Amino acid sequence: MSETAQIKLSENTYDFPVITGTENEKAVDISKLRDLSGYITLDTGYKNTGATKSAITFLDGEKGILRYRGYSIEQLAEKSNFIEVAFLLIYGELPTEKQVADFQNEISHHTLVHEDMKKFFDGFPSHSHPMGQLGSLVCSLSAFYPESLKLNQTEAEINQTIIKMLAKMSTIVSWIYKKSFGHPVIYPKNKYDYVSNFLHMTFGQRTEDVEIDPVLVDVMNKLLILHADHEQNCSTSTVRIVGSSDCNLYASISAGISALWGPLHGGANQAVIEMLEQIKEDGGDTQKWIAKAKDKNDPFRLMGFGHRVYKNFDPRAKIIKKACDDVLEKLGVNDPVLEIAKQLEEVALKDDYFVQRKLYPNVDFYSGIIYRALGFPTDMFTVLFALGRLPGWIAQWKEMKENKEPIGRPRQVYTGYTERDYVEMQAR
Ligand code: SDX
Repeated sequence: MSETAQIKLSENTYDFPVITGTENEKAVDISKLRDLSGYITLDTGYKNTGATKSAITFLDGEKGILRYRGYSIEQLAEKSNFIEVAFLLIYGELPTEKQVADFQNEISHHTLVHEDMKKFFDGFPSHSHPMGQLGSLVCSLSAFYPESLKLNQTEAEINQTIIKMLAKMSTIVSWIYKKSFGHPVIYPKNKYDYVSNFLHMTFGQRTEDVEIDPVLVDVMNKLLILHADHEQNCSTSTVRIVGSSDCNLYASISAGISALWGPLHGGANQAVIEMLEQIKEDGGDTQKWIAKAKDKNDPFRLMGFGHRVYKNFDPRAKIIKKACDDVLEKLGVNDPVLEIAKQLEEVALKDDYFVQRKLYPNVDFYSGIIYRALGFPTDMFTVLFALGRLPGWIAQWKEMKENKEPIGRPRQVYTGYTERDYVEMQAR
């Protein structure tokens, strides 16, 4: 007997079906609530509201579990690579050797961007934020590939746009980085795999092919895998709702990039380093800054701490924290802010304020320290988050279209003036 939920409203009682996910998550399906009762629900920030059913990523915030298509993030970070995980997220299964070779080959042949796009790169002020550039440049791809605007595309047509989006993102990201230094851009080379090509375009030499450090390849694969998807977070929900208007993939991804930019979301990885630098400049008194984070009259928040879903350790933060020590040692980098981060974590995790609110380090708390050790400037960190999240955004956009979901259009409770007559100027 399937479970139902009863809602009693004034004199009436309504039954609503309860749906159960494959991990036994329960939801009350209220899709008929307004038709039956005239009532809607209100859940500011969607803290208790599911927007969709999805088969891509599973999170358990209490247990600190994260799985992509059923595979744990720990195993994927250890055993897989980014391009294989991108295939898994987008197409639902781990690829065979031939599938991943074809996928990589397809991507390699689309890594060039239209030469006219270089005018856009040159048009940005030299120190404009890389996220603003990325959002604009990704949206502009729809101008160079107008076939992406076609409605009712075939699966093959959609897949072509997916391949182009994946391929050109790494070129755009590396060129934004090079332009920020006034350096000439480096063109992609088909002989490299996805991550090696990104590192070639970012840290390589224009005149000769330098050996790409396998340590960098390994840690970039790990970081991109760890950021690849995270179910219905702010930016992914943005991609889905923009895509639900039948908007093209490039513009939908551009909207996700804008949502990710916010310091409460992906922009936190930049904000964490800026916070750690501020604490270091201030003398490194972590107790003082923890007190500030707890003080309701102080706008300071401990960036990189807390999460809407994880009420335990963010499993990604655990892996990145360990990678931090390994990579900095291998690269011979000694970053004083790492010690400050570890002290903050130690103090916070013993403090009632954080314990009661179940505030733990999230994916952004340590990631910036690694990005900095790799040589990226702080304002590039969120762009690197977007590079990692791209296959997740694509997979979620594709799932939304395949499920033929309706255009997203939430309701509201109106709290403004009731009807009133226009007042002539002289009477105001
Ligand atoms: C990402 O959703 C995802 O999956 C996102 C993400 C992904 O992969 O897509 O995981 C990536 O965005 C990670 C989060 C990055 N953001 C930050 O690190 C910014 C700092 N953290 C927060 O601002 C906050 O924790 C959020 C935004 C992450 C979550 O906010 P919620 O769920 O809306 O919780 P809240 O703001 O209502 O906080 C609950 C309580 C409040 O105190 P009380 O009113 O109960 O007294 O906890 C406090 C908050 O003041 N609190 C913090 C805090 N985070 C929450 N207090 C101090 N420092 C913090 N960082």
